[in-house]
Amino acid sequence: MEEVHHHHHITMVQRTLSCLLQLLFLFPLQAMAGDFDLLISFKNSLPNPSLLSGWNLNQGPCSFQGVVCKGGHVSSLTLQGIALSPNFRSVSGLLSIQTLETLTLRSVNLTGDISAPTKCAEQLTGLDLSDNNLHGSVSDALSFATSCSSLQSLNFSSNSIGVYPLKKGSPVPTPFPLKSLDLSYNKIESTGDLQWVLSTLGILQFLDLSANKIAGSIPEIANCTSLEYFDLSSNLFAGTVPAGTFSTCFSLTYLNLSSNHFTGNAPPDLSSCTRLTTLSLSYNNFSGEIPILSLTSMSDLKHLELGFNNFSGSLSGSISKLTSLELLDLSSNGFSGPIPASLCTKGAPSLMELYLQNNYFTGSIPDSLSNCAELVSLDLSLNELNGSIPATLGSLSKLKDLIMWQNYLDGEIPAEFSSLKSLENLILDYNGLTGMMPDLGNCTGLNWISLSSNRLTGTIPAWIGKLESLAILKLGNNSFTGPIPPELGDCKSLLWLDLTGNQLIGSIPPALANQSGKVAVSLLTAKRYVYLRNDENSQCHGKGSLLEFDGIRFDDLTRMPSIRLCNFTRVYMGNTQHTFNNNGSMIFLDLSYNQLDGHIPKELGMIYYLMILNLGHNLLTGLIPREMGELAHVAVLDLSHNQLEGPIPASFSAMSLSEIDLSNNRLNGSIPELGSLATFPKYVYENNSGLCGFPLPPCSGKSTSTLMGDVSEQSSTDYELSQGWWITVGFLFCIFFNVGFAIGLFL
Ligand SMILES: *[C@@H]1O[C@H](CO)[C@@H](O)[C@H](O)[C@H]1NC(C)=O
Ligand SMILES: *[C@@H]1O[C@H](CO)[C@@H](O)[C@H](O)[C@H]1NC(C)=O
Ligand SMILES: *[C@@H]1O[C@H](CO)[C@@H](O)[C@H](O)[C@H]1NC(C)=O
Ligand SMILES: *[C@@H]1O[C@H](CO)[C@@H](O)[C@H](O)[C@H]1NC(C)=O
Ligand SMILES: *[C@@H]1O[C@H](CO)[C@@H](O)[C@H](O)[C@H]1NC(C)=O
Ligand SMILES: *[C@@H]1O[C@H](CO)[C@@H](O)[C@H](O)[C@H]1NC(C)=O
Ligand SMILES: *[C@@H]1O[C@H](CO)[C@@H](O)[C@H](O)[C@H]1NC(C)=O
Ligand SMILES: *[C@@H]1O[C@H](CO)[C@@H](O)[C@H](O)[C@H]1NC(C)=O
Ligand SMILES: *[C@@H]1O[C@H](CO)[C@@H](O)[C@H](O)[C@H]1NC(C)=O
Ligand SMILES: *[C@@H]1O[C@H](CO)[C@@H](O)[C@H](O)[C@H]1NC(C)=O
Ligand SMILES: *[C@@H]1O[C@H](CO)[C@@H](O)[C@H](O)[C@H]1NC(C)=O
Ligand SMILES: *[C@@H]1O[C@H](CO)[C@@H](O)[C@H](O)[C@H]1NC(C)=O
Repeated sequence: MEEVHHHHHITMVQRTLSCLLQLLFLFPLQAMAGDFDLLISFKNSLPNPSLLSGWNLNQGPCSFQGVVCKGGHVSSLTLQGIALSPNFRSVSGLLSIQTLETLTLRSVNLTGDISAPTKCAEQLTGLDLSDNNLHGSVSDALSFATSCSSLQSLNFSSNSIGVYPLKKGSPVPTPFPLKSLDLSYNKIESTGDLQWVLSTLGILQFLDLSANKIAGSIPEIANCTSLEYFDLSSNLFAGTVPAGTFSTCFSLTYLNLSSNHFTGNAPPDLSSCTRLTTLSLSYNNFSGEIPILSLTSMSDLKHLELGFNNFSGSLSGSISKLTSLELLDLSSNGFSGPIPASLCTKGAPSLMELYLQNNYFTGSIPDSLSNCAELVSLDLSLNELNGSIPATLGSLSKLKDLIMWQNYLDGEIPAEFSSLKSLENLILDYNGLTGMMPDLGNCTGLNWISLSSNRLTGTIPAWIGKLESLAILKLGNNSFTGPIPPELGDCKSLLWLDLTGNQLIGSIPPALANQSGKVAVSLLTAKRYVYLRNDENSQCHGKGSLLEFDGIRFDDLTRMPSIRLCNFTRVYMGNTQHTFNNNGSMIFLDLSYNQLDGHIPKELGMIYYLMILNLGHNLLTGLIPREMGELAHVAVLDLSHNQLEGPIPASFSAMSLSEIDLSNNRLNGSIPELGSLATFPKYVYENNSGLCGFPLPPCSGKSTSTLMGDVSEQSSTDYELSQGWWITVGFLFCIFFNVGFAIGLFL
């Protein structure tokens, strides 16, 4: 009895509750039914409604994919990255959901014309229709925004807004209520459109117009007092920035004018923008001195990007007043004079990136840079700095990039560098550095060591074998002595080994091939590079120079003395980032111009992905190992100026070479007729003991002059083909160093 009563009681409570609930939600449930219909009719308007198969009739809209409800109302809908292909007209339906606060239809192949009339949800505050195929004019976009009375943020990024110019008789500019407007990556061309926006800013705080095609000069900004974020980068703006443009932009924290064609002095009234934390004027033609007084009035400035302009003059010590600075990029300008010693003593305790490359800085590197203890990247390349490298830099425990190629630095590489535990890129080529390599065996993150074209001495240290991430090692054009340490074969990531032009002795260690078929690195830090392909002459040895090239204007390569000295005819440029998958190997091996003796180890034939192999100008003896014919990817092979004997292995006919040099050896026998070998000019085989056959004179007992004629004709076309092979090498570079492409350099 007791139990039954209890049960009954519960049922009563349930009934009452459910009744109460119905009362409470009666109104919302009706609204939900409307939302449900609107959502379902949106689904049904799609060319392929089954893409929203989760939106089915048996469920309430709050459980639909992408729908968020608040108190039983649909408050937000987010659909992203599905090619739903709706038309803009069907978005109007969604905007009739009266409780909708945010609508995101990003990357859904939304098409149509935004001038189509829409009714807007009264509570809509955020609308993101970015990365679609919407058309329309800027005034259409803004009248649409004005029709949504509560809208604060509108994202039309990556569409085709601007394909139609501003409508004749477009509405009189009235400030619209938006706080954030993103029209980046559209097709806005006319400054007329822009002028219209800038005269109706109102309470707008965020305005992104980057990556359009707006040409002309910046129009006047009517009232800039609310604007905080303003991006005009990657357009076609030209001319000077008129005085007054930013004079009322008191709230601005982010200003990006980079990648346009601005000329003249830096914007004159930046001094009003005292709250700036980020200022980028990069990739323009601004000139004159930098407005240091305006800059120092911005006490919160963290990112200052002025690279790739034509700024000049010396850098005032006042720059040290920018005490919040984290990134200072002055690369590829015309700055001269010394690097102010006060840069790191008085200010910039938080400086992490300092880019001064490709300027005309003189004097020595200030010791005080070591006070910038947060420094991660330091690039001083292509300047006129002299003196020695301060040992104090060894205390920069966070330093990853220490890049100072092409200066007049002398003295030794400080032994203190052995404590740079975070170091990844040590690039000091083309200086006058002397002494031995410091012990960097504990800098296990090293990825790229480049010390070529200095006057370094001593032996190549065995500790290099401990560097598991080392991908590039360039020690060419120095005075290193002793043998090549076999430990280099322990470097699990080594792709590029350039030891040309030293005084190395002994034989080539077979262990250099030890990682073949194992290299798996994906560690190569993305760095812009150029590869200068060397057409060897008496001045320049080796098969070319790989240079780190971040922040350097391509045309300014001509500032390097060795460009004039060497006849660099082919230049490849790209970003390092290779994609081996546990079966890679070295791709570049240049041991030329040393005094290496002994036989060529047959193991070199296992370096499967090798593209350039240069062992020329040594004292190598013995036979050319048959195994070298297995180097399927080698395009350039130079064994010239050695004492190699015997025949060219028949296996060579299987190789796809674009260049070969076997001249000045003691080779004999006939040149294999199959494959590419007979397509090369005569001089690559000359000065051997007894080589014969085309292109050299025929081997005795096997010739008719008519045959010669035929072959000769064929070979001239084949030779052109083999020139074309360089393009192939360019593509191969793409595989290992993406975005590789060839550029002819005409000096
Ligand atoms: C995008 O939508 C258009 C028009 O509806 C259609 O022709 C096109 O095939 C769609 N593209 C994709 C990738 O679905
Ligand atoms: C607009 O959308 C794009 C993606 O399509 C996004 O990258 C961008 O940050 C958005 N803009 C704003 C202001 O949120
Ligand atoms: C500029 O706009 C702000 C609000 O954003 C307003 O308070 C101020 O009066 C306006 N100034 C002028 C000169 O119109
Ligand atoms: C400025 O704009 C350029 C181009 O749009 C972009 O690459 C760069 O990162 C921006 N700078 C900053 C500091 O945001
Ligand atoms: C800067 O000016 C030079 C010479 O007039 C021109 O060749 C170059 O394209 C300009 N650069 C930019 C970014 O406008
Ligand atoms: C750079 O500025 C210098 C003067 O400082 C001027 O002679 C030169 O023509 C300018 N270069 C470009 C490309 O505008
Ligand atoms: C650096 O060069 C300047 C001339 O540009 C010279 O006066 C100075 O003595 C040099 N310093 C060193 C350390 O060689
Ligand atoms: C490398 O680290 C080990 C262990 O911490 C230490 O004994 C050695 O002295 C270090 N070598 C150098 C060159 O700093
Ligand atoms: C070799 O290095 C020296 C500096 O020691 C430099 O002067 C010379 O130009 C370099 N040679 C080549 C071909 O780069
Ligand atoms: C290279 O590998 C061979 C066997 O493949 C091994 O005997 C030799 O010790 C290795 N050399 C080095 C320096 O690790
Ligand atoms: C540089 O190379 C080009 C093309 O190979 C050649 O025509 C020219 O004579 C060379 N110049 C010098 C100075 O070696
Ligand atoms: C290395 O791996 C790639 C992709 O897995 C494969 O295509 C290629 O044939 C492999 N190369 C060798 C030499 O095994």
